[in-house]
Amino acid sequence: MFILNNYDTVPLYKQLYRQIREQVLSGKLPAHAKLPSVRDLAAELSTSRNTVEGAYQELYAEGYIYSRQRSGYFVSALDHDVVPQPPSREPRRQARPPQPNLPTYRYNFHPARLDPSSFPAALWRTCFLECLRECSAELSHYGDPQGDWGLRSNIQQYLERSRGVLCEPDQIVICAGLQQGLEILAHLLQDSHSSVAVEDPGYHLPRSVFRNNSFHVVPVAVGPSGMDLEQLRTGDSTIAYVTPSHQLPMGYVMPIANRLNLIDWAQSGGNLIIEDDYDSELRYHGKPIPSLQGLRPDGNIVYMGTFSKILSPALRLSYMVLPRSLLAPFHANYDDYFSTVSLLEQKTMAKFMEQGCWERHVRRMRIIYKRKHDALLQAVEHYFSNKVTVVGQGAGLHVVLQLHEENAGETEILRRAAHKGINLFPFSATCATGGSVSTILLLGFGGMNAAEIEQGIKLLSELCF
Ligand SMILES: Cc1ncc(COP(=O)(O)O)c(C=O)c1O
Repeated sequence: MFILNNYDTVPLYKQLYRQIREQVLSGKLPAHAKLPSVRDLAAELSTSRNTVEGAYQELYAEGYIYSRQRSGYFVSALDHDVVPQPPSREPRRQARPPQPNLPTYRYNFHPARLDPSSFPAALWRTCFLECLRECSAELSHYGDPQGDWGLRSNIQQYLERSRGVLCEPDQIVICAGLQQGLEILAHLLQDSHSSVAVEDPGYHLPRSVFRNNSFHVVPVAVGPSGMDLEQLRTGDSTIAYVTPSHQLPMGYVMPIANRLNLIDWAQSGGNLIIEDDYDSELRYHGKPIPSLQGLRPDGNIVYMGTFSKILSPALRLSYMVLPRSLLAPFHANYDDYFSTVSLLEQKTMAKFMEQGCWERHVRRMRIIYKRKHDALLQAVEHYFSNKVTVVGQGAGLHVVLQLHEENAGETEILRRAAHKGINLFPFSATCATGGSVSTILLLGFGGMNAAEIEQGIKLLSELCF
């Protein structure tokens, strides 16, 4: 007995198909049972023959029934042990987006947070709409796997002007963040290298990416001059990942003598430097530190930069400059890939740069973050006074506080802070080996205003000792 509902939005033939299929699957219609003829069933259901024919055709195509010449349709023999249970007829509940389960903090010192009101939405919208108007025809293709040429040219000019990076647009690869750039490098380098030196303490992500690509990851100690080059030379690593212009997390700047020594290590041993210049735009005093790449543009240096710190980490837009020696392997391995960054976002970014908005935005952000940086230092001086040493100030979106003796220790401070509505990123997460001997706090200031920074530091100073 089948029931068809003329008011259902599901077509009649589909309703019949589903009901017969359910009976076949449940065994109610046994194997080799003969189905009524199309004409009889249509008459019985007061429907058209097309409806029944349509249902039978679909069941036949999927193998639920078979036909015998001049005898009609029969139920196929199915192994009922492997037949899936028919789906529940209960209407599915509307899936709701997951409620954000993250605690909200009154004072969030996470170092990756940007000023929440600083995204240049109006300018971005104008550039986006202009790109839509001008290049909508291009949206019918995938675009260049290496990234939009216009964006690469703009990045090349910007890097030369502001970072002293010397390259051509054909050396630039547009990536969806540092992680993707490192994944590509790991693939390109895995045949000729097996061990990579990383800064300790340092950014945790490169450690994971290289480890996941079966590299031996060797933590090398970091001091005020950057990565310890003696330790690097005595190890067997042939790749060094460094943040020489603003070491993460300590904020040290690698002096020129060490930069030249590092370049010499790369040149004389056939080794490779990965220079991560992630927040170079944010230097609040003195001149920007020129890149390592600019000291030896034809050397074995991969230069990596991002739009995440000044513009938005949500755009997932970054770039890397490959040395000429890696271009052929890159094309051999990646010419069949597609870019993972939206072409429209790339074109928008290119226009944003072309029209001078990017450099104006950088200047604006430098002023905004300098105010926050100064507010943080003032508050630290006022509330912590001589109980701490400030390290790595003057750049970026965070500073580091080394607490003097008699403090509660990182775990307890983080626990107490969370209890008071303060979020701290654990410094120990940047340490590849053990932790640090003294207690160190990593204080990001990008996401709060000056008053919140002051209040947060006051509260923090009351719970550290
Ligand atoms: C050292 C370092 N490099 C790069 C980045 C930026 O990475 P992405 O371009 O994936 O946002 C960050 C972000 O926090 C970082 O800390």
